[in-house]
Amino acid sequence: MRVITCKNYEEMSKTAARLVAGQVSLKPNCVLGLATGSTPEGMYVELARMYQNGELDFSNVSTFNLDEYCPIDKENDQSYYYFMNKHLYSKVNLKPENLHIPNGSAKDIETECANYDKMIDSAGGIDLQILGIGSNGHIAFNEPEDELTAGTHRVELTEDTIKANSRFFASESDVPRHALTSGMATIMKSKKIILMISGKNKSEPLKKLLTGKITTSCPATMLNMHADVIVLADEDAMNG
Ligand code: PGA
Repeated sequence: MRVITCKNYEEMSKTAARLVAGQVSLKPNCVLGLATGSTPEGMYVELARMYQNGELDFSNVSTFNLDEYCPIDKENDQSYYYFMNKHLYSKVNLKPENLHIPNGSAKDIETECANYDKMIDSAGGIDLQILGIGSNGHIAFNEPEDELTAGTHRVELTEDTIKANSRFFASESDVPRHALTSGMATIMKSKKIILMISGKNKSEPLKKLLTGKITTSCPATMLNMHADVIVLADEDAMNG
């Protein structure tokens, strides 16, 4: 695991965008694994800027997002589809048929999840996965538990996560109680992973990750088993 300390959120965002741009330049038809949340927002701003300046072309890129609330309609302004459309899809030349997010309003959840993993495999697997981390150590919505799940699946959100995400909703009771999420194997099969960590409230899971120990009570620590992970952490997360 390579750890890069960035001065602040802005520097972390720009570094992540540069690494994504490098991947797209090296392999214009690459498959990107994308994340939502406050952490990657600045990276999306930078990617959109690079596209608008003619520095980046997404026309052959495919994307797969990590997760989505369930149930939720994609038109809901708290859905992850809405987030992605606002921050990236509407800003760059990704083709609609190349964008993928688990369908939070699917009738048959099991089939939706199984198909999602199959679609990633048939696209050739994820070349570069962007990840954030929860203050409880979750990655995507793989929450701390005795047992973790390999493939894409439906998960019940923990109280910690509901509380953390309630900042985007009118009230805590409006936060959906479930989500569809990539599983640990879905993430670990990615060829390369960039984990972005910003803010003092993320210093605890970062510390656990950097011990090199692996525990399901902090799912991010599983990344210690992956051969190609870059951690981009800002000073607040590093020193918090
Ligand atoms: P955040 O969420 O980027 O909004 O802090 C990250 C996560 O919960 O994985």
